[in-house]
Amino acid sequence: MSLKLPFIYYGGDYNPDQWTEDIWREDMSLFKKAGINIVTLPVFSWAKLQPSEDTYDFLWLDKILELLHRYSINVCLATSTAAQPAWMSRKYPDMLPVDFDGRQRKHGGRVNFCPNNAKYHELSTNLARNLAKRYKDHPALKVWHIGNEYGNYCYCDTCASKFREWLRKRYGTIDELNRRWNMSFWGHTVYDWDEIVIPSGISEMWKDGERMRTCFQGISIDYNRFMSDSILSCYLNEYNAIREICDHIPITTNLMGAFKPLDYFKWAEHMDVVSWDNYPSLTELPGATAMKHDLMRGLKDGQPFMLMEQTPSQQNWAPYNSLKRPGVMRLLSYQAVAHGADTVMFFQLRRSIGACEKFHGAVIAHAGHENTRVFKECAALGEELKILGDRIIDSRIHARVAIIFDWDNWWAVEFSSGPTIELNYIKQVEKYYMALHDMNISVDFVRADADMAKYNIVFAPLLYMVKPMVAGNLEKFVKKGGTFVTTFFSGIVDGNDLVTLGGYPGELRNLLGIWVEEIDALFPNMKNSIVMDQPYGSLEGSYECGMLCDLLHLEDAKALASYGKDFYAGMPALTVNEYGRGKAYYIASDPEERFIKGFIRQICSEKGIEGLFETAPGVEITQRFKNESEFTFILNHNDYPVDINLKDLNFKDLLANIDKTGRMTLGAKDAAILERIVDNEI
Ligand code: GLA
Ligand code: ZN
Repeated sequence: MSLKLPFIYYGGDYNPDQWTEDIWREDMSLFKKAGINIVTLPVFSWAKLQPSEDTYDFLWLDKILELLHRYSINVCLATSTAAQPAWMSRKYPDMLPVDFDGRQRKHGGRVNFCPNNAKYHELSTNLARNLAKRYKDHPALKVWHIGNEYGNYCYCDTCASKFREWLRKRYGTIDELNRRWNMSFWGHTVYDWDEIVIPSGISEMWKDGERMRTCFQGISIDYNRFMSDSILSCYLNEYNAIREICDHIPITTNLMGAFKPLDYFKWAEHMDVVSWDNYPSLTELPGATAMKHDLMRGLKDGQPFMLMEQTPSQQNWAPYNSLKRPGVMRLLSYQAVAHGADTVMFFQLRRSIGACEKFHGAVIAHAGHENTRVFKECAALGEELKILGDRIIDSRIHARVAIIFDWDNWWAVEFSSGPTIELNYIKQVEKYYMALHDMNISVDFVRADADMAKYNIVFAPLLYMVKPMVAGNLEKFVKKGGTFVTTFFSGIVDGNDLVTLGGYPGELRNLLGIWVEEIDALFPNMKNSIVMDQPYGSLEGSYECGMLCDLLHLEDAKALASYGKDFYAGMPALTVNEYGRGKAYYIASDPEERFIKGFIRQICSEKGIEGLFETAPGVEITQRFKNESEFTFILNHNDYPVDINLKDLNFKDLLANIDKTGRMTLGAKDAAILERIVDNEI
């Protein structure tokens, strides 16, 4: 089931249980004034919905749903299970999780439950089931929203015993487990499943600033997998309970972009539609936000997603909670749509009076009326979205370039002890993504075992862990003519973080035609250089590189550039291997941005891939397609107007409702959506 919307859903989180009924009525008229057509609720109302184990109170929810319906406002119905009531934690203290340092937590905060606690499973599922029974046919109900921002790991005894069961299923025998984890290291061999100790801050692991470190990567990676699965089971219990009763409404939970603890590719298999919460800071680069949208779109193979939350103005939880500058809320809303969102939703519709979110931005401020900058901007956007109707709903992005993203690999790379503490998966992915983004080239994010047939170029930055079937999948892609690019510190280990013997890059060696003998780690102030053997496209001369330098030998590959310094000066630093009808590149160190851009420009031009229009920096362009229509989104992130050359193509500017061709000017922080009829769907 997917989301087929009649128009762009516009609205967001609303907490009527924090307000009196006369405020509800004021809210309804303000929502209408703002063009709001969907409300998400009740996200944190378990305590109100279930005052004790055998009493439910749905009357207030009936009332607010009726009121919303009367105002023709749709509902994204949340199951409220992200924060259990205090009575529940008191009655079932095992429901409270144990943290990384082994401390049993007390009641408080939110998402503060053990994901393997049977009572939590039972009671959250019951609540979801009761909500489904009561509201399945409610005419306002359009989407189900389970829990809220799942993601907290637990280290309690229940989780430990569930982990052992999970391992038994995965590995079958204790011998196999010892082998897969390389337990003869430091005498870790176990003889009984019950000897397995979960990895935490009081066993194998420790915290090093923000980073979790471990003595045993295999164990820690499996614990992440297990936790991601355990937390997913909480979502799935509710999903199944709802689905049994209500089979016609799509179900989602709000994800958080590049969020490390959960393997979102696995999660998305169980979501009818992906939704996510986007909270860029004032200084986040537009490309970094775009990357998260693209990653979220990639989770379900390009299906449109929901922008479930963004702030209309400011956050409360960052160190510095800047206001969104005039026009920026609108611009970022269109950026989400430009990357595949079919909804624009906020946290929150009305600002609360107490607790930590009272200074979080909202459509309705503490002033309580519509005469605020933020309200006016929200209302203006609401009006504008009405113009779009269902025109761009369900349109798709057609990317010819993909980047592989892999949660197991992310965990493995950053659990690695050596060669350098600088290894940061997201930063490496971002470097390649940003270069493509700056050239206005659309990018899909894919899993490593995805069918790559529709792409011309696939990047796999830092593909350290190569899981089963992946090398074969990449070989097939290149053999048929694809271009594959990977970097230093790739092809090192299998799915259990065990090194593939015979030389790096292990299973990718055949495809890349190289053999990496050693890996040098440079201090942050040490640099080497990548010197082009001869010009390659616009690449010419020497480029700075650092962090890691692979010392490699050519097998079938050719060198395109070599190191400029140190005892390995002259060894290959950039190689290409002609493989079947395609090419596989290896970038052996971490190069400066200028190199990455030049390199990408060259391999894209070989494949006839170019940016949509030549634009000034800070202007972002994407396209979505539906039937015979092509929608071009032009977003000016700059503080000044820019000129765009539309060549001699004829467009209709949907928001301004005028025809456009030739040159157009786009104001500071402005956005335009241009429609063009194309003969064939591309
Ligand atoms: C998250 C949550 C919301 C709210 C916002 C504040 O996205 O889902 O409940 O706390 O953060 O930014
Ligand atoms: Zn637990």
